Amino acid sequence: MHVTLLSGPNLDLLGRREPGVYGTDALASHVRRAAAVAASHGWTLDHFQTNDEGALVDAVHAARGRADAVVVNAGALTHTSWSLHDALRAYDGVVVELHLSNPAAREPFRHTSVVAPAADGLVAGMGGLGYELAVEAAVRICGARAHVRGDAPPAPAPAREDLRKDEEPRP
Ligand code: DQA
Repeated sequence: MHVTLLSGPNLDLLGRREPGVYGTDALASHVRRAAAVAASHGWTLDHFQTNDEGALVDAVHAARGRADAVVVNAGALTHTSWSLHDALRAYDGVVVELHLSNPAAREPFRHTSVVAPAADGLVAGMGGLGYELAVEAAVRICGARAHVRGDAPPAPAPAREDLRKDEEPRP
């Protein structure tokens, strides 16, 4: 099983960009922790960051038939990108919308998400922890759907000591 984590515009600046809002961790650190959560369930994770709307749409297309779930922090494209909305609508896996901050508690232009109607759920306002929670949610929603369909149970996750040494343990 596989999850694709997508990061939109300006998230490459995490750690340096408005640390009071987005925290001091770099994107790579969030991705490492998200990948460790995926691995703890026997899943793999790939990550792609872009500042380009079209490239983000292409990345959703690339996830079709390849990823069981997409976790997407679309940055400001969350509030504007109907092409991203349509791409996510055309993707038939689980979609989890992710934000470090809580857009609903911020400026009015952030109160609308065009990603939300194409997503199964939302993780927001949890800071960096949200990356782990969003992957956990994606894995468990996929598991619940497989159960409803009556699929065979997934292979057991590797033992913790089998995880790569550079993966940080879960709290
Ligand atoms: C964000 C929230 C968006 O409103 C903003 O444009 C971002 C980051 C978040 O993670 O909190 O770039 O998606």
